[in-house]
Amino acid sequence: MTKIKGSTLLITGGASGIGRIMCRLSLEMGAKKVVIWDINEESIKNTIKELSPLGEVKAYKVDISDSKAVVETYYKTSEECGNIDILINNAGIVTGNNTFDKQRISDIERIMDINATAPMVLSAQVLPDMMARNHGHICNIASAAGMIANPRMATYVASKWAMIGWSDSVRIELKQAKSKVRFTTVAPYFINTGMFNGVKSRIFPILKPEPTAKKILRAIEKNKNFKGLPFGYHFIRFCQALLPTSIFDYIFGEVVGIFHAMDNFTGRKL
Ligand SMILES: NC(=O)c1ccc[n+]([C@@H]2O[C@H](COP(=O)([O-])OP(=O)(O)OC[C@H]3O[C@@H](n4cnc5c(N)ncnc54)[C@H](O)[C@@H]3O)[C@@H](O)[C@H]2O)c1
Repeated sequence: MTKIKGSTLLITGGASGIGRIMCRLSLEMGAKKVVIWDINEESIKNTIKELSPLGEVKAYKVDISDSKAVVETYYKTSEECGNIDILINNAGIVTGNNTFDKQRISDIERIMDINATAPMVLSAQVLPDMMARNHGHICNIASAAGMIANPRMATYVASKWAMIGWSDSVRIELKQAKSKVRFTTVAPYFINTGMFNGVKSRIFPILKPEPTAKKILRAIEKNKNFKGLPFGYHFIRFCQALLPTSIFDYIFGEVVGIFHAMDNFTGRKL
């Protein structure tokens, strides 16, 4: 069991969406300290104002796509906040709903840097400290899109696919090393935070942010290796393994409508 009560948590992208909710819930559950890393200064200010009455909150403005900044900010964080017990790699972005032939190079690089490279770079800083103490937990917020192909979000899918492969591999490394440090990989379906505004889901309901955040924290406390949300989503994975691609594409892509979810995507208006 991992205990949130009494722990210091570092949550990237903690100033908005499920990150912000997980910060609040952690404090309500008795976390010793919550450390937020986020790029958005305005959201950081609002989050600190909202959460400070609940407990100790510290925030750093950092662009995690800059590996040098990640290393420097982790050094600063350790100096000022002490050991991190739980890291949640949560910050992520998606851009446009273009098909890949129209994807800009700058978007490809930014999505991969933030969603895939940054969690690895940050974990590479945090993990040795956790392993030395034989204590700690790293939770990586991937996506259902990291396991099921989806048009109009190919780069996002690739970034989350990378995260899942990396996160689950390190989990096995830790097991082989008989370490008590844990990794949890989370793959949620669409969540109603604004990040995927305009997305339509014909059959599977779009997830609500608050219960989703609760389920993620519960998965961390239970040391779950992998958490797919909702659970029914494992059924899709099962069918994917059994059915020929053309039949799977027709049933889940066209009838269930997964391959048309992004047709009316607008994303968050900034
Ligand atoms: N919303 C969904 O439908 C959905 C579904 C599955 C997985 N996810 C994943 O869950 C995570 C959280 O999603 P959300 O919906 O709460 O998103 P959100 O957009 O509400 O919050 C993301 C946070 O990350 C921060 N951020 C973005 N770029 C950053 C950078 N370069 N450096 C530091 N911080 C940065 C943003 O400022 C924001 O506060 C993401 O990784 C996302 O890919 C979301």
